[in-house]
Amino acid sequence: MSEQFERSGQVNDRFLRACRSFEVDRTPVWFMRQAGRYLPEYRALRKDLGILEFCRNPERAVEATLQPLRRMEVDAAILFSDIMVPVAEMGVDVRVEPGLGPVVADPFRSPKDVSRLRPPLEVEASVSYVMEAIRVLRKELTVPLIGFAGAPFTLASYLVEGRASRTFERTKALMYGDRRTWHHLMTSLTANVLTYLRAEVEAGVQAVQVFDSWVGTLDPADYAHFVLPHMREIFSGLADLGVPRIHFGVGTAELLTLMRDAGADVVGVDWRILLNDAWERVGFDVGVQGNLDPAVCLAPWEAVELKALAVLRRAAGRPGHIFNLGHGVLPGTPVENLQRLVELVHERTANPGEAS
Ligand code: CP3
Repeated sequence: MSEQFERSGQVNDRFLRACRSFEVDRTPVWFMRQAGRYLPEYRALRKDLGILEFCRNPERAVEATLQPLRRMEVDAAILFSDIMVPVAEMGVDVRVEPGLGPVVADPFRSPKDVSRLRPPLEVEASVSYVMEAIRVLRKELTVPLIGFAGAPFTLASYLVEGRASRTFERTKALMYGDRRTWHHLMTSLTANVLTYLRAEVEAGVQAVQVFDSWVGTLDPADYAHFVLPHMREIFSGLADLGVPRIHFGVGTAELLTLMRDAGADVVGVDWRILLNDAWERVGFDVGVQGNLDPAVCLAPWEAVELKALAVLRRAAGRPGHIFNLGHGVLPGTPVENLQRLVELVHERTANPGEAS
C-alpha cells in the first residue's frame, strides 16, 4: 500500500495501482462526470446556480464530489469543478451555460488578447476554494481523489471560438495564420495549467487527469507541432510529484502514439476505437482508461452488459486497465445502469490472487 494511503487511512488503492500498471484485485472503475445531472440529489443541490458559482463554494463542491460515492462503489472520486474554473480566475470573462457549455464574452483573436491572461496563476488568491475542497475531501474519502485541468488546446479553443464549436475554424485560423500568437497563447495556458495542477497535488489530490476533450479535431502532424510540446511540458512538469497522470481526449484514435509520447502514465480513450487497438497504439507499458460509449448506458441493461463485457474482453485482464466511459456520463443515464456496471466490472475481473 502506498505511503499516501497509510497516512490517510484509505483502503482502496486499486485505482492508483492500475495507474502504475501493477496487478490489482479487481479492475478499478470510475466515471467521468460521475457527479452531475443524472443524479436527482445533484439537481437538488445545484438548483439555479451557475456552475462556476456552484464550484466557488467548497462545501457544495465537496458534497457534489461525494454524491456518486454514496450511490455506487466506484474506485476513485473526481473533484467536482470545471475546466473553466481556473480560466475564470485568469482574467477571462466566462460563463458556462446549461446545454451550451463555456461562453467567453470577449474571445481571443489577436496578439494583444493573449496578454489578457494573467500568468502565473496566483493560486491562494484566486482558487483557494478549490484547494479547500480538496483538503476537506481527503479527510472524508476512502478512495483516491482525482484532480484535473483542461488541456491548453481545449482551453484555447473556448477562448478563441468564444463557445463550443464543431469546426474549430477560428482556433485553426489563429494556429495556421499566426504561429507566434498561437504558441504564445499555448505557452501561457501551459504555465497556468501546470501551476494549477501542482497546487491541486500539494493540496492532496492523488492523481491528475488532463482533459484535452477537443484535440481530436487535429491531424497528427498538426498535433505534433502545435500541441504536443506543450503537453510534454505539463506531464514532465508534474513528474517530480510522483502522482499518476492521466491524459484524456475524444476522437484521438490517430493521435494515440503521439499522446503516449507526451509522457502520461495512463491514456484515456473514447469508444470510437476498440480498446485493444487503442492499447496497442499507446503501448502496453502505459495504462489505458476507457472506453464504453456513454450513450450505451441509456439502453436496457442487457445492452449495457454486452458492451461492457466487450470492453473487458479487449482489455484481456492486462494490468493497467481502468474501466471508464469514453466520455462523460450523459444527463439521461439511469442511475441503476451505472450501479450495475460498477458491480459487473468488479465481479467479472475479480482476481483471487491479489489482495487490495
Ligand atoms: O467528472 C466529474 O464528475 C467532475 C466534474 C466536471 C465538470 N466539468 C462539471 C460540470 C468535469 C471533470 C468537467 C470538465 C469539463 N468541463 C470538460 C472536460 C471534460 C469533457 O466533458 O470533455 C469540458 C469540455 C468542460 C466544459 C463544460 N462545462 C461543458 C461542455 C459543459 C456542459 C454544458 C451542458 O450543460 O451540457 C459544462 C458544464 C458542466 N460542468 C456540467 C457539469 C456536471 C453540466 C451540468 C451542470 O450544469 O450542472
